[in-house]
This record gives sequence, C-alpha cells and structure tokens, in this order.
Amino acid sequence: MRKGDIERVLLSKGKIQARVKKVAKELDAYYAGKSPIAICILKGSVVFFSDLLRAMKTPVSMEFMKVSSYGVGTQSSGKLSVGLDILSNIEGKDVLIVEDIIDSGNTMYMLKEMLKTRNPADICIVSLLDKPARRTADIQPDFTCFKIEDEFVIGYGLDYAEDYRDLPYVGILKRSVYKN
Ligand code: PRP
Repeated sequence: MRKGDIERVLLSKGKIQARVKKVAKELDAYYAGKSPIAICILKGSVVFFSDLLRAMKTPVSMEFMKVSSYGVGTQSSGKLSVGLDILSNIEGKDVLIVEDIIDSGNTMYMLKEMLKTRNPADICIVSLLDKPARRTADIQPDFTCFKIEDEFVIGYGLDYAEDYRDLPYVGILKRSVYKN
C-alpha cells in the first residue's frame, strides 16, 4: 500500500499549482518578447514541465533530455550520463532548463557546462525543488518553486526506484522504505 510509505505530505497539490503559476508569471516577465527552447530533464521534471509550460504565456518549443548522476539508490555518483540528447540546435537561442530537483547540483552543473559549449544566447534554470543543504557543486537555479530541507522526497515526478512519480503532491518517504 503506497499511502503507507509516505511519512507526510510536504507540498500539497494546491500549494504546488499556486506556486507553479506564480513562477510561470516570473518566467513570462523574464522572457518578454522572446521564445525560448524549454528542455525537460527526464524523467523527474516531466510533470512540472507540463504544468509550468501550460501556465506560461510565453511561446516555447519543447525538447527532452535524459541526464543522470544517480543510480537506483539515493546517493549521487557525481558522474553525468547523457541517455537522450535534444534534437534542435541551440546556438544563439535562449534555453530554459526545467528540472525537478537540484540536490548536490552535480547534474545541473555538468549539464550547464555541456550546453554552454553549444553557444546558446542564454541558459536559465528553473527547478521545482532546491535542496541547498546538500549542494556541493557551484550552481544555483535562477528560479525555484520551493526550497526544501534534506528529506527524501517523492511524487509530482520524483521517484524512488521508479515508483511514486504519478502522485499529485510531493511527499516525504518513510525511511523504512528506502533503508530496506
Ligand atoms: C535527479 C533529478 C536531478 C538530479 C539531482 O535525477 O531529476 O536531475 O537527480 O541530483 P544532483 O543535484 O545531486 O545531481 P535522476 O538521475 O534521479 O533521474 P530521474 O529524473 O529520471 O529520476
């Protein structure tokens, strides 16, 4: 029973939806008169990406990328693997990276460095969640929906061993689930 795996709801569906709308407005102001290429960092950001882009009035094109510095467990390995790359040329374009969580920051740091070599006009990072207490890499999101404590969070795209991504809220997973 998955509900029994959740310690508590950290961010309710309503709280997330309200904050996503607010950040969408901030991004609309940032991109006034422009139309960026929005990159969804699979898989975790797919739910946020979908809600955020529909809340924005700015016209965007969508790209998808799979990068990872995690294995199945809970610790960052510090290595970037690119499982799926974007299809379009970003040279001279405005790029909006849409991420679900920035933890150590390793993934985002390495991703930003890699995309910079393709000479975009601008790279802007928006993250649903930011865990500043865990940061080891020198990277900050430009826009963040929620700063959170160092808890193991799942739901609204975030998983543990590929489960819980479909939950409409962000919850804290019980320790007993990932320690077993
Ligand atoms: C998660 C998350 C970020 C990264 C954050 O992805 O979506 O990309 O880890 O961790 P870091 O800041 O310590 O690098 P994950 O590799 O778990 O893939 P997923 O999105 O497919 O679940």
